[in-house]
Amino acid sequence: MARDILITGGGTGIGRALTRHFTEAGDRVVVTGRRQDPLTAVARETGARAVVCDHTDPAALTALLAELPATLDVLVNNAGGNTDFTEADADAGTGPGPDLRGTAAELASRARAFRANLDANLLTAVLTTLAVGERLTPGGAVVQIGSIAADQGAGSYGAAKAALTSWNLDLATELGARDITANVVSPGYTRETEFFRDRLTDTRREQLVSATATGRAGTPEDIAATVAFLTSPGARHITGQVLHVNGGAHRTR
Ligand SMILES: NC(=O)c1ccc[n+]([C@@H]2O[C@H](COP(=O)([O-])OP(=O)(O)OC[C@H]3O[C@@H](n4cnc5c(N)ncnc54)[C@H](OP(=O)(O)O)[C@@H]3O)[C@@H](O)[C@H]2O)c1
Repeated sequence: MARDILITGGGTGIGRALTRHFTEAGDRVVVTGRRQDPLTAVARETGARAVVCDHTDPAALTALLAELPATLDVLVNNAGGNTDFTEADADAGTGPGPDLRGTAAELASRARAFRANLDANLLTAVLTTLAVGERLTPGGAVVQIGSIAADQGAGSYGAAKAALTSWNLDLATELGARDITANVVSPGYTRETEFFRDRLTDTRREQLVSATATGRAGTPEDIAATVAFLTSPGARHITGQVLHVNGGAHRTR
């Protein structure tokens, strides 16, 4: 039976692959993002309904509710990214260092950069889940897109993704009572996305691939297939978990 699915940040990369995957399976998908052009392209490609929405903005989320169906079977909180790659104040760093001159301006700049990653990766998911929470139906699923950075460290970006995973633990308890699962899919380096902007050098790319056991980068389709499994009937007893999709670049017992 066709399900109603909301995919945040789906104009590019992993979200676009998620939109393709679910629409090809016959589901009805609403896909969001801040930029109209990539959304228009993905809507044309997949038949999904595209709605412009900044998921850090409570007013935009309230407006989004009017565009969504009365019930939702699946929510994928995919919107995010490392804002250090885009913000003027980039790189909040890991703490005071020799370059930290102790000025209020320097601290304010670092605070802005740190908050940007928390907003982009934690607040987007928290606010969206709160906004649509009552519409999620029994038998449904919430999937957060985390990151290998939560386990390997990457300044404020890694901290934000780790916080997302921690928050998901409480969400799993809360939604479990309504027969809704909540899990995190945690990608490693995934190609064919806009994630790295123009910051990924060939040397760094080779390092990331050589850290895997599979000898290759992840693809958006690798992530989409894992998210799809977590929303399937076979995954109804899996909740409050992190599924790592990184070719073995981060390994667990
Ligand atoms: N690629 C990787 O190697 C990798 C690895 C680990 C985790 N991840 C995670 O995977 C997820 C998807 O990223 P991606 O790799 O597919 O990169 P991407 O191509 O940059 O996709 C991120 C999408 O999120 C949207 N977005 C960002 N902030 C938003 C906001 N406030 N409101 C609405 N939409 C927003 C962006 O569109 P607009 O700019 O138009 O809003 C963009 O389409 C992210 O959470 C990222 O942290 C990626």
